[in-house]
Amino acid sequence: MTATNKNAVDKGSYPHFMLKEIMEQPEVLRRTLAKGIASIEQGQLSPEYGDLRLGKYQKVLVLACGTAYHAGLVGKYFMEKLARVPVTVEQAAEFRYTDSFVDPDTLVLVISQSGETGDTLAAMREAKSKGGYLVAITNVAGSTIAREAHRVINTVAGAEISVASTKAYMAQLATLYLLGLQLAMDRGRLGFKDAVPYLKAMKKIPEQVEQLLAEQATVKEWAGRLAGNEHAFFLGRGLDAAVAMEGSLKLKETTYIHAEAYSAGEFRHGPIALIEEGIPAVILATQPELVGYTVPVMEELKSRGAWIIGILGADTGQAADCCDYRMILPATLPEFTPMPAVIPLQLLAYYTACARGNDVDQPRHLVKSVKDVK
Ligand code: BG6
Repeated sequence: MTATNKNAVDKGSYPHFMLKEIMEQPEVLRRTLAKGIASIEQGQLSPEYGDLRLGKYQKVLVLACGTAYHAGLVGKYFMEKLARVPVTVEQAAEFRYTDSFVDPDTLVLVISQSGETGDTLAAMREAKSKGGYLVAITNVAGSTIAREAHRVINTVAGAEISVASTKAYMAQLATLYLLGLQLAMDRGRLGFKDAVPYLKAMKKIPEQVEQLLAEQATVKEWAGRLAGNEHAFFLGRGLDAAVAMEGSLKLKETTYIHAEAYSAGEFRHGPIALIEEGIPAVILATQPELVGYTVPVMEELKSRGAWIIGILGADTGQAADCCDYRMILPATLPEFTPMPAVIPLQLLAYYTACARGNDVDQPRHLVKSVKDVK
């Protein structure tokens, strides 16, 4: 985005674009759902999804970088579960070093906010040359990635100015969920009627996100403590591990705190050696069937001196006792918790960056879109 364009989008009453964009997410979700759903009662998506005719694809490859890559990881869980199709999520910058199995039966999802990221573009060109069918999910209509894909789903996040991506990630998540539903229906794994409870649950997410955005004072308090640390860990299992990676990236980008994300299980195989008195750990435990495995890890962290911020699901209250600070998410289907769960993580990164006096919208060394390939 040029300086002129940047100025054309106003911060309004917000001190930073990042906060403004975080606060816009309920609206972004509403727009995405209004554009993507034709009828909730009939379990029908709009032609943008319905006309893709995804039934013939035997595998899915997701190519993306950074935050968009993390959205792809969430998409993988949902698509594999509902559509019963193998999904590989590749960091676009690594893709060209692999001799990947792309063929005309491969649906290639290319996710990019800017639509101009050089690594993603290079990866998609290679996948295209091997015969893959490319569907781009981008936030900039007419971008290079949008033009070079076979089909495009435009995310409707609106211009994102803050380098740290927030509302575009939310739009990517909602789009991937809708795409996952369409894929499951096209593959005969989900009847129209079976899609209805998912669509009904999605429809409630904007309001739930609003509820969490109203908890800013709580997150600000966590941020006040976190700001004094130089290391932090983000842990979760299953879908929560994917969201932990996004929470960790947000914190790194905006605060320069060394933040690492691990699956709560893998963390025990080495990295736990890094835990010492006073280390903060942000733990996501939103999945009812996994919380029983995460609680013992939380207990172990606490016994070794960590302090814990817990992002917990409505049905995972047993994790609450292990937390120094906690936020309980509104009840939704376990598949959809990444959408509300990322809200406190985005706010945490934002308020911690503010507390450290950083340039929140334009962090050091970063640009909004890395166009070159190195
Ligand atoms: C990075 C940005 O360079 O590019 C990240 O710092 C972003 O914030 C990543 O997620 C991917 O960008 P895009 O535009 O392809 O989604």
